[in-house]
Parts: sequence; C-alpha cells; structure tokens
Amino acid sequence: MSKQKTNIAYIIGTRPEIIRSADLIRALASDETVEFKLVHTGQHYDYEMSEVFFKQLDVPMPDLNLGVGSGKHGAQTAKMMIGLEDFFLSFQPDIVGIFGDTNSSLAGALVAAKLGIPIAHLEAGCREWDMRLPEEMNRRIIDHMSNVAFAFSRDAMKNLKDERVLAEVYNTGDPLFEVFEKNLKESATSDIRDRLGVTEGEYFFATIHRAGNVGNLDNFRSILDGLSAHADKPIIFPIHPHSKKQLEKLNYPAEKLVQFMLIDPIPYMDLLHLVAGAEMVVTDSGGLQKEVFWAKIPCITLRDITAWSETVDLGVNFLAGFDSEKIGSAIAHIRAHRKEIDAHFASMENPYYKPDTTGMMVNLLKKHAGKRWME
Ligand code: UD1
Repeated sequence: MSKQKTNIAYIIGTRPEIIRSADLIRALASDETVEFKLVHTGQHYDYEMSEVFFKQLDVPMPDLNLGVGSGKHGAQTAKMMIGLEDFFLSFQPDIVGIFGDTNSSLAGALVAAKLGIPIAHLEAGCREWDMRLPEEMNRRIIDHMSNVAFAFSRDAMKNLKDERVLAEVYNTGDPLFEVFEKNLKESATSDIRDRLGVTEGEYFFATIHRAGNVGNLDNFRSILDGLSAHADKPIIFPIHPHSKKQLEKLNYPAEKLVQFMLIDPIPYMDLLHLVAGAEMVVTDSGGLQKEVFWAKIPCITLRDITAWSETVDLGVNFLAGFDSEKIGSAIAHIRAHRKEIDAHFASMENPYYKPDTTGMMVNLLKKHAGKRWME
C-alpha cells in the first residue's frame, strides 16, 4: 500500500532562514497531505537571534533542535551533519527543503545528497562571485547537489543555467517578499521609534555583521569612521552578538560612538518599522537589502558586490565596501539625488516577485518528493 502522506523535512539554523521561510513553514506544517518536520541546527541560539522570530512570525517551533551552537566552520558543519544524518535515517524524508547558503544549509544538503534524498534549494543561483566568502562556497556546492532549484529572480535563473546545474530550475519569486508585505502593515503599530526617541526620516538604520567587515578590525573601524564622520543623524545599530564581541575588542573611541544607538538584535516588526522610517539604511546583510528596497528606502551596502545586483542596477542601492570615503560619498549622493531615487522607486517593478510564491513552492516540493536521481 502506498503511504498516505509526503514526508517533507526543512532545515533552518540562523535568523534569516527563520524569517524568510516563515510562510512556507506554516503552509507545510498545516498541509494535511504532508508529514512535516522542521529541524533547527542550533547555529543561532540566542533568544533574540532565534526564538523571538518563531513567536512573532507565528512559526511552529522546530520538531528537533540539534543545539550545535557556534564553532569553527568545519567542526560546526560536521556536528550538524552527524545530527542530521540520524534524523534523516529515522524520518526518511521524501524531500528536504534547504534555504540559502549558511553552514546549516550546507550540512543539510551534504547529508541529504549522500543519502540520496531529493533536495529542494531555495534562493538557488544567488552569486557574489567571491570564493573567499563561506556563503559563496556553500551556495555553489548546494546548487550542484540539488534536484530542484528555486531561483528568486531572472538573474539567479541565468546563473544556474550558465553553470549547467543538474537540478530542475524554477523562478518562484522570493518568499521574503510575501513575509515582508504581510508584516509591513502590522509593523506600523510598533512603538520602537518612540522608545528610542527618534522621528521618521531623522535617523540612519545600520546593521553590520559580515565576517569580512567585522572579523577584520581595521575594516570594522573604517566603516564606523565613515558613518560617524558623514552621517549627521542618530544611527540606530542593532548589533549582532558577533559584532558586539568584535566592537569590544576594537576599543573604538567613545566620543566617536555617541551618534550610534547600539541596541540588541530586534524583533522583525521593530526592524520593519525602523527601516520604513529611516532616511537611509546602511547594511552588509543580504536579505535586508531587499527589505529596504521594498520599503522604498535608499540603501548603502557595505560590500563590493551584492547578490541582489538588480537593486544596484535600478539605482537605489549603492555599494561602498568597508571604505569610509565611499560611505561618505554614497551618503552625499543619496542626499543630492533623493528626488531621482524616489522616482525610480515609484516607477520600478519588483524583480523578486511571482504571484503566490509560497503556494508554488509547496506544490513543487510535493511534485519532486521521492524523485531521486535516476537509478
Ligand atoms: C551566519 C551565516 C550568514 C548569515 C548570518 C545571519 C554562515 C557561514 N554564515 O553568519 O550567511 O548572514 O548567519 O546572521 O553560516 N553568535 C552568538 N549568538 C548566536 C549566534 C552567533 O553569540 O545566537 C556569535 C558567536 O560568537 C558566533 C558568531 O556570532 O561565533 C558567528 O555566528 P555564525 O552563526 O557562525 O555566523 P553568522 O555571522 O551569524
């Protein structure tokens, strides 16, 4: 007798994976034709980096948390693989959903591939063309092991085709857009601006956490120098635990930090509210660049390259790396061209949109369940 339900496992481990997958996880968990298991590797473990998002975005808690925690990349990935292998062997998923490019994603994909379990890779085909980045290594490896690839834009589709991945490739649109759209309205009720004492349009919003920017203290200093010299408004900076540790090591002069409002990582509604009311946003996060774009706020990206090149091509996102002078020029450019930038926002199409992204992904996961490579 054929089994009644499709076994689908989904792997998460870090803050962005929880947020971006929120609607999909909810849809899979409530689908009566699916036996769904959510596994958290434990890569992010602080309450404000993980649990708060399950609560706020109404995501069911994981069925299993491997509790792996932080560590060297090899050891961290290996521990995840050991836990995931045991889990896959007992649950026997018909397909595994993997998001993006983190070490959790890599671990999930490696183990599933070795066991012959079909992999659906979300955010496939995203490229930053810099093999020094752990995320670039991870995403390329995962794409080439996947059976189904969910690309979020035409550029991502093209990258996958150019690299001749063996997966079946679909442009699903970006599920983060649905999460963003749904929560933006609700975020208007957040009182975080009042709590911080800032008014709309009168502050910068910044996030800095990439290894390349905070792992190297000279680069981190250069970013802070650029912001403190050129941003003449309060800079709200919710600080990732790793950046916080690095900032302590940096011993940055207190008088240059006065403009920064250093706060703990914030829940999603507060983040959206602060982004939507900022004069501009300065970030090295991938996902945030798109949320800022959808909120129609100019963005300065602290990278030399971005996976979301569409936002740069559309003239609303400016790359500054960790160079303090480039940060200053980008701030000046945005101020001098604000009307033009707003006109771009008013006329542009969203390159990451497809109708019912979540529904499409659920159907594709079911369609490809159990379809192993040809034996
Ligand atoms: C990871 C992802 C990155 C993603 C980011 C989102 C990889 C290779 N990188 O980077 O692509 O953009 O998540 O945040 O997987 N820490 C804590 N508490 C936590 C989590 C981390 O204190 O809950 C500290 C630890 O010192 C840890 C450091 O942050 O060593 C780095 O954490 P890690 O998960 O390795 O990488 P992220 O920088 O978060």
